[in-house]
Amino acid sequence: MSKTNMPEGFLWGGATSANQIEGAWDKDGKGPSFVDGLIASRDIQKRYAKEAPKDSYFPSHQAIDFYHRYKEDIALFAEAGFKTYRMSIAWTRIFPNGDETKPNEEGLAFYDQVINELIKHKIEPIVTISHFEMPQYLIDEYGGWSNRKLIDFFTNYAKVLFERYKGKVKYWLTFNEINMAMFLPQMALGIRTDATEEEKYQAIHHQFVASALAVKNGHEIDPNNQIGAMLGYAPIYPLTSKPADVFVAKQRELQKLFFADVQLKGHYPKRMLAYFASQAIHLHFAEGDLELLANYPSDYLGFSYYTSTTMSNNKEKDLSEGNGILGERNPHLEESEWGWQIDALGLRYGLNLLYDRYEKPLIIVENGLGAVDQIEDNGEIIDDYRISYLEAHIKAMQDAIVIDGVDCFGYTAWGCIDLVSAGTGQMSKRYGLIHVDRDDEGNGTLNRSKKKSFHWYQEVISNNGVL
Ligand code: BG6
Repeated sequence: MSKTNMPEGFLWGGATSANQIEGAWDKDGKGPSFVDGLIASRDIQKRYAKEAPKDSYFPSHQAIDFYHRYKEDIALFAEAGFKTYRMSIAWTRIFPNGDETKPNEEGLAFYDQVINELIKHKIEPIVTISHFEMPQYLIDEYGGWSNRKLIDFFTNYAKVLFERYKGKVKYWLTFNEINMAMFLPQMALGIRTDATEEEKYQAIHHQFVASALAVKNGHEIDPNNQIGAMLGYAPIYPLTSKPADVFVAKQRELQKLFFADVQLKGHYPKRMLAYFASQAIHLHFAEGDLELLANYPSDYLGFSYYTSTTMSNNKEKDLSEGNGILGERNPHLEESEWGWQIDALGLRYGLNLLYDRYEKPLIIVENGLGAVDQIEDNGEIIDDYRISYLEAHIKAMQDAIVIDGVDCFGYTAWGCIDLVSAGTGQMSKRYGLIHVDRDDEGNGTLNRSKKKSFHWYQEVISNNGVL
């Protein structure tokens, strides 16, 4: 234990996803992902516009060019003192269409280099196998995750990764924010935005099975592997103490936890089966599916945390935004420039709730503040607002670990280097400790520079959390 009583070996670090940083969207055999067809807009529906103007700018195509600059970026992560780096692998670099049986060697070669570079700097990789980047071909030809065949394609893809990175990568996450599929069915499942609940839950069932198979195969290939599930988590508070408000909030929270329930407890909760029955939602479970879920639960739970939300039973609602979660505005909280309400204590609340419920190790794999940064005349970026946000959340996490006894083994700051926003495609919504000279139209040198928060986080890590 250090001065903060934080466990030795705690995994401090940062997190990104492939499509938000790599660029090189069609290089070295990579196939197109769904996200490669998205333009930038704060209105998520406009991003999907099939008939985007000819000269539209597609942010993922070059992103921040991590593909060619990974050495420089990883050296910066090492300078900050990162013990871990959560990255994702682009499915379409390894299987350009998604249904091939043989992987694309050039795609694997890229990740060999990235992973070797991390290991060289003693940074533990945490790899997300699928982070919002469905191969477009699987959508067009198979109808995305509504098709059971996707289980086989994903299983093959995951096996290739487990075999290739045996002994190098220990921590894996199967699907990024699996619960977000209900709000982002195109991005996460490759199915229509207006898909019915039945279609969405069926597609998610296929992901549950694929995830359980990844746990099975991952353990068989290397017993040291730790295969985690991942949830986009935001507590749901009742707007008032009226029992009807409390009840609605609890119902919604349980509906969200359902995703982790299946993956960590290994079965569908009875309340969800009752819900499906009441809504005439009929899911097809193939023979052996439920046994797979029961026999291969996830080893740990990773979750993202940005905001909390509030619910009431009122018909008229004052809605707030926040990471795909439309809740009601909590009058006691401030919000970011993008309307995400800021609630550090909610992180301690969530850590307690999730640990108490699952009794499995937790890791915070995303947390951060999306904000517009100003560059001073001397080139500095004094992002005190980001430092305050991170400081308050890290403090809340430490209280959960040190005072409440929660087993949380790491914290990775989201978008540790400025990246393309998943929700809007903007660069101006910056999370980074490292600035990247790139704007929303794709202009800029792509040069990297350290913000004030970089130095602050470096200090936090070197003192194992002393704030
Ligand atoms: C999470 C995603 O939902 O939130 C990330 O896993 C995303 O990919 C992050 O970037 C922040 O959202 P946004 O829309 O601000 O990029």
